[in-house]
Amino acid sequence: MIRIFKLKNIISIKDFEREDIEYILDEASKLEDIAKSREVSKELKGKLLGLMFFEPSTRTRMSFETSMKRLGGECIGFESSGSSSVSKGESIADTAKMFEGYSDALVIRHELEGVSKFISDIVDVPVINAGDGAGQHPTQTLLDLYTIKKEIGEIDNLKIALIGDLKFGRTVHSLSNALGMFKNVKIYLVSPPELKMPQEVLHDINKTNVTWQEVDSIEKIIDDVDVLYVTRIQKERFADIGDYLKIKGAYIINKKMLEGKDLIVMHPLPRIDEIDTDVDNTKYNKYFTQAANAVPVRMAILKTLIKNNPK
Ligand code: NCD
Repeated sequence: MIRIFKLKNIISIKDFEREDIEYILDEASKLEDIAKSREVSKELKGKLLGLMFFEPSTRTRMSFETSMKRLGGECIGFESSGSSSVSKGESIADTAKMFEGYSDALVIRHELEGVSKFISDIVDVPVINAGDGAGQHPTQTLLDLYTIKKEIGEIDNLKIALIGDLKFGRTVHSLSNALGMFKNVKIYLVSPPELKMPQEVLHDINKTNVTWQEVDSIEKIIDDVDVLYVTRIQKERFADIGDYLKIKGAYIINKKMLEGKDLIVMHPLPRIDEIDTDVDNTKYNKYFTQAANAVPVRMAILKTLIKNNPK
């Protein structure tokens, strides 16, 4: 077990090694009591987190904010481009430099791939990518892995189906990359033909010992998997709304399909219609637990990066 976490920024899960992931998951489990007890620690007292959300977010932004507050720190920031000076024409670089002056770390969400990386190159404080277009969403992956480990016991030997928008869904891109660091993982890719997993991601998976298979129906794999990881069709990334409407509702999970199966259902949320609400009150539903796990995991990330990189 390593005792140091070497990354200064969290931009892509591909920058991690397995031991970095395990470090954050271990830290998260140590912080779970504070996260659940509604107490506030003094770990980050006097520290400020800058939240730069150019693209909408509910869970990610609120869980970063909750995590910082539970560690005794505070947050500043904006929730959309419209409520920042970017709407007046200020460059992202100037906005980031200004935020750097105020904050001990920055959390960035943007509709363009690569923006967090760009900002991390021009500021000295740690930068966390909270989702960049259809690129990566590494902190979501860490909380997904935390949930799998807690619910199933281990990540090695996992059989998981990634379902829905595998083309534009950044959560499944990061998760696939991360699973490549574990042993004996099998990934089933279930999507409409138009929304298949991008070649670059498959290319990355092929460099690992993960085995993967594309399938066109959930029924074909449902008896074989430990996890159904369901995603929303990413409407906002379609150039033509007609294309979205044709695909919408392609895969829907309901209670009847799950009866008698030994698996859990996960979803990064927001859900549109991919999981029927009749699954909510079953033992299969782990998507709300997954959302709650965001707090100990993001507390672990903030504590580690801010303590390791004092201003
Ligand atoms: C995801 C995202 O923003 O990529 N949401 C989240 O952060 N929990 C998934 C999505 O928007 O569909």
